[in-house]
Amino acid sequence: MAEKKLICVIGATGNQGGSVARRFLQDSRFAVRALTRNPGSPAAQALKDLGAEVVQAELEDVESLKSAFQGANIIFSVTQYWEPFFRPDCRAKAAELGISCRKYAYDVEYRQGKNIADAAATVVDSLDDNGFLVSTLSHAGKATSGKMTEVYHFDSKADIFPQYVDEKYPELAKKMSCIHTGYFNTSHQILPNSYFQKQPDGSFQMRFPVRENRPIPHHDVVGDTGNFVYAVSQMPPGKAYMAAGSIVSFGEYIRLFGEHNNVPVSYKQVTFDDMVADTLGDEATGIEVANMYVYADDPGYDGGMELLTAEDLRKAGIDCPMTTLEEWIKKQDWSHVLAK
Ligand SMILES: NC(=O)c1ccc[n+]([C@@H]2O[C@H](COP(=O)([O-])OP(=O)(O)OC[C@H]3O[C@@H](n4cnc5c(N)ncnc54)[C@H](OP(=O)(O)O)[C@@H]3O)[C@@H](O)[C@H]2O)c1
Repeated sequence: MAEKKLICVIGATGNQGGSVARRFLQDSRFAVRALTRNPGSPAAQALKDLGAEVVQAELEDVESLKSAFQGANIIFSVTQYWEPFFRPDCRAKAAELGISCRKYAYDVEYRQGKNIADAAATVVDSLDDNGFLVSTLSHAGKATSGKMTEVYHFDSKADIFPQYVDEKYPELAKKMSCIHTGYFNTSHQILPNSYFQKQPDGSFQMRFPVRENRPIPHHDVVGDTGNFVYAVSQMPPGKAYMAAGSIVSFGEYIRLFGEHNNVPVSYKQVTFDDMVADTLGDEATGIEVANMYVYADDPGYDGGMELLTAEDLRKAGIDCPMTTLEEWIKKQDWSHVLAK
C-alpha cells in the first residue's frame, strides 16, 4: 500500500482546524497529525478516537512547531486573535505595557503567525506543491490606503499570510494558498444585540453599520471549513479564496431568520457608536468589531480582493459541498433567541 500523506493541522481542537482534521480523516490516503497545547483535553481525545495522531505544540514556541511539522506534506494553519484579547492575564499585561488589549492581541497573533511561517519554512521541501494552506483575512489598512488601521484582527493575519511569507520565504510562498473565511454563522452568539435585538413590539431587529443590501460572506465554520480546505488542497498553489456557504446581505439574513421562525423582523443600518453601545459593557470588543463591520461595508469584508469561491472550485471540477445560510438557519434551534 502507498504511504499515506501527512497533514499537520494547527488548531485541530477548535472550530476551523477541527473541521479540517475531521475532513482529512475521512480520506484513507491521509494521516492527520493534530497539534494542541493540551493533548489530554477531551477535544484532543476525540480526535485520537477518530484516528488522528495528537502532538503537543505551542504557537509561542517555534521549536515545538518545527518538530510537529516533521514529514508534513500539508500544513493547515490558523491563528486565534480573540484568546489573548479576552484572557484576563493578557488584559493585565496589555495595561502594564500601556497598550490596548486590541493591539496586544494583534501582537500575539502576529508573533504566532510568524512562528508558524518560520517553522513551516524548515520543512518546505517535504510539502506538496500546494502544501501550505493558511486561514487568513484581508488587510484593512492596505485596502483602505491607511484610513482604517484598527481592524487589528484582520491585519494581524494578513501581515503574515501572505505578506511576511512572500517577503521572507519565496519558496514557501510558492506552495501557499490563502483561505479567507466569511463571518461565522455562529457570531450571533457573541453579538446578540446586533444580530437579533428584541424590540418593544416583540419583533427582532438586526443592527450593523452596514448597508442593508451589502453582500457579505457567511460561513458554517464547523460544518464547512474542512470541505473547503480539502477542495483547495486539490488546486494549484498560489491562489486566494473566500470560504463561505452564502454571500448575501444582512437584510437577507434577517429576512430568512424571520421567515423561518415566523416572527416580524427589521434591519437598521446603525452608526459605529450604536454598534459599540450594542456590545454592552466591553468597549474594546465594541470598537474592534464595529471597525470590522464598517470595513465590511466599504470597501468590503474581502477588502476588494478577487477571491475564489466554492463555485469556482466546482467549476474547476472539484467537489466542494457547502451549507447555505438558509440551510444553516433551518438546522438551528432558535428557542433561546426567540425566548429573549
Ligand atoms: N468569528 C468570526 O466570524 C470569524 C470570521 C473569520 C475569521 N475568524 C477568525 O477565526 C480565528 C479563530 O478560529 P477558530 O474559531 O477555529 O478558533 P478556536 O475554535 O478558538 O480554536 C483555536 C485553536 O487554536 C489552538 N491554539 C490557540 N492558541 C494556541 C497556542 N498558543 N498554541 C497552540 N495552539 C493554540 C487551540 O488549541 P488548544 O487550545 O487545544 O491548544 C484551538 O484548537 C480568529 O483568529 C478569528 O479572528 C473569525
